[in-house]
Amino acid sequence: SEYGIFGPLVGSIDEGTSSARFIIFKANSSEVVTSHQKELTQHFPQEGWVEQDPYDILEVVTTCIHKAVENLVELGGKPEDIIAVGVTNQRETTIVWDKDTGRPLHNAIVWLDMRTSSTIEKLLDTVPNKTRNKNYLKPLCGLPLSPYFSAVKLRWLSDNVNAVKNAMKNGTCLFGTVDTWIIWNLTGGANGGKHITDVTNASRTMLMNIENLEWDPLLLKFFEVPKSVLPAIKSSSEIYGYISDGPLAGKPISGCLGDQQAALVGQMCLQKGQAKATYGTGCFVLYNTGDIRVNSSRGLLTTVAYQLGSKNPPYYALEGSVAIAGAALGWLRDNLGLLENAKDSQGLAETATENGSVVFVPAFSGLYAPYWRQDARGVICGITEDTNSNHIIKAALEAVCYQVRDILDAMNEDCGIPLQLLKVDGGMTSNNMVMQMQADLVGINVIKAGFTESTALGAALVAYWGVDSTTQVAPIPMMNGTTYYPQISDDERDMRYKQWKMAVDRSLGWDQ
Ligand code: G3P
Repeated sequence: SEYGIFGPLVGSIDEGTSSARFIIFKANSSEVVTSHQKELTQHFPQEGWVEQDPYDILEVVTTCIHKAVENLVELGGKPEDIIAVGVTNQRETTIVWDKDTGRPLHNAIVWLDMRTSSTIEKLLDTVPNKTRNKNYLKPLCGLPLSPYFSAVKLRWLSDNVNAVKNAMKNGTCLFGTVDTWIIWNLTGGANGGKHITDVTNASRTMLMNIENLEWDPLLLKFFEVPKSVLPAIKSSSEIYGYISDGPLAGKPISGCLGDQQAALVGQMCLQKGQAKATYGTGCFVLYNTGDIRVNSSRGLLTTVAYQLGSKNPPYYALEGSVAIAGAALGWLRDNLGLLENAKDSQGLAETATENGSVVFVPAFSGLYAPYWRQDARGVICGITEDTNSNHIIKAALEAVCYQVRDILDAMNEDCGIPLQLLKVDGGMTSNNMVMQMQADLVGINVIKAGFTESTALGAALVAYWGVDSTTQVAPIPMMNGTTYYPQISDDERDMRYKQWKMAVDRSLGWDQ
């Protein structure tokens, strides 16, 4: 054939909150040929603020591309065989830059950042009839008013940063989530870069109408965002442009998904009723609702799951978002020094004796779904004189599982059909103890795929489909997965969950 030893290849750029990676897959079998990963520096300029340098984001991405392509060549592969490149990214993180110079006008404001709590208070005052209803815009965009979403961060930037205010006035400002920033730069930047985003990322801004998938004039007016700053909204699977430079010059970028939506695709949850949870910095449960936009009455988000080509209809999902998952272990390591490495958590937690019941609610940046309370703060309850650091570590791991239980309960109520099994992926799923706790605390089977890079795979699949629409079958690497079965009684499950709820009550309203 015209291709080298690995056949046609697809590259996947996965730019997450804590690190970026570039993975090269075999197009026909979804096997990983090689990859490279690099950490991303986080900046915490004030309490509750989280920033990243947009140039750092580009640097880690291009380094990963260079190194992975070098690996490919060492393995005897040919970079020319890469037929498509996909992009997947940490969502909501907000970047503004000058369209003529390409220079950022501020650091990226990361999704976890809490500085906009006061912006939210101000915006709630403008809700008609003085109701201060945080779900006022939900029928239009599927999301509640929360510091989490991009429009609120963009409004903060235009209110507080002169360079942004001026550039918006002069028409020289461009806005983008991380996908948009990466694609604009890779396709030429100030020299003709494509200013685009996909429907899934756009559905996290609070500016897109969730029904017609266009920027909504009412939402733009509410947040005072000029349309000139916004990228064009595209489907998740089509050619957006071609890479202008470097080892992949000339290759099409033909797929884009927010990272949680990409994991849904990579886990092959392509049918209504299928759900996955990804345990990363945060933890995100997405439930495919097909062509139906389920409006949650239980604090879940309505979001676009994917749209495979501009002529195809969008699929929707219900999402439960947990802000702090793996991040709690990072905190135990960096702030308390209880761990040297997040990977040690399993061993340490296992040595925690079964006495007492320490419950840890890591509400560092408020609580997301289903509570949506920016005034919540972290609490550790149930401490006795026997409590040691291993109990705290175990409680941090358990907290993730309890939060997923909160979300699944809400999903079951919203959808009417209780979920029978949960597919899981992401870094923390390598911790068998956590996965067993998850099965125990929700009372359903938890299935870990043999292949855990679901996010990168999802972006590779949509990129492949974007250049070759005849191949919408997904070759999934068949590797042995693991199933975790619930092993505790309903009584014990309920008793423990009740303690979690009591601890959550204590975390609410702390930041008054
Ligand atoms: O909404 C934020 C989410 O996209 C971040 O994902 O994997 O970086 O925690 P992750």
